[in-house]
Amino acid sequence: MSQTQILMSSPEYFKVEYSINPWMVSGTQVDLELAKHQWENLKSTIENAGAEVKVVPPNENYPDLVFTANSGIINKNDVLIANFRFEERRGEEELYSNWFKDNGYNVSRIPSEFKFEGRGDAFVHGDYLVGSYGIRSDKDALLYIADTFELEPVIVELAQEKFYHLDTCFQNLPSGDAIFYPDAFVDKSLSSFQSLFNLIPVTEHDANKLACNAVVVNNTVIFPSEDIEAIRTIEKLGLQAEVADVSEFLKSGGACQCLVIALN
Ligand code: ARG
Repeated sequence: MSQTQILMSSPEYFKVEYSINPWMVSGTQVDLELAKHQWENLKSTIENAGAEVKVVPPNENYPDLVFTANSGIINKNDVLIANFRFEERRGEEELYSNWFKDNGYNVSRIPSEFKFEGRGDAFVHGDYLVGSYGIRSDKDALLYIADTFELEPVIVELAQEKFYHLDTCFQNLPSGDAIFYPDAFVDKSLSSFQSLFNLIPVTEHDANKLACNAVVVNNTVIFPSEDIEAIRTIEKLGLQAEVADVSEFLKSGGACQCLVIALN
């Protein structure tokens, strides 16, 4: 198998400048030096787990560009770019489009009336499009993507503003298991996902640390904090747990998985 490639965007201009989710409190100061240090540490933890990291240049007008998960959805060499819900992030669409075009991807757009926030809310899993809607992304966007990529949609509705993307409350693991926070979903048992994953619930404590926003590289699962009970669960599954503290990014509602998108 070829080496995993991950896309990140450096945090030179990262800050909490507006509030588009309950984690973002206007006026919150980000310690930029600490954020840069945490981002570098996440990057090297990902590299040590065996992935190659590519970097989209930052842009001073878009503090949330650092959350590359939201750039779009990638299926082999095809990319469908996000249609952001909020005006504050819409300018990122062109920046990500240009990066993917410059790097040899076939880039397309979905109809602009369908809001869609990339790997935040959807990913390709074998012949399935696994996704969530209701807060940032629209159901119609997910159905459009499934149709375009000829995938079977397996999609669920989110229940809470605090867990506004699928990747804030669900992460699938290389063992065939997945961790999830039941209260984040309208169907708390996530019954439509049960045939695809062995579902393991996380506690409210873990959910609030964004435990499900962990990055998976090969057999390594990189969690955003040491203070996560699910770390022991992961180790019992025979996976390697690592921690990359990204506390400055939690001020914007994002953790490890929000800061990356897998390119292959
Ligand atoms: N401040 C960003 C926003 O609200 C955080 C995005 C986090 N990304 C994610 N994939 N969950 O849009």
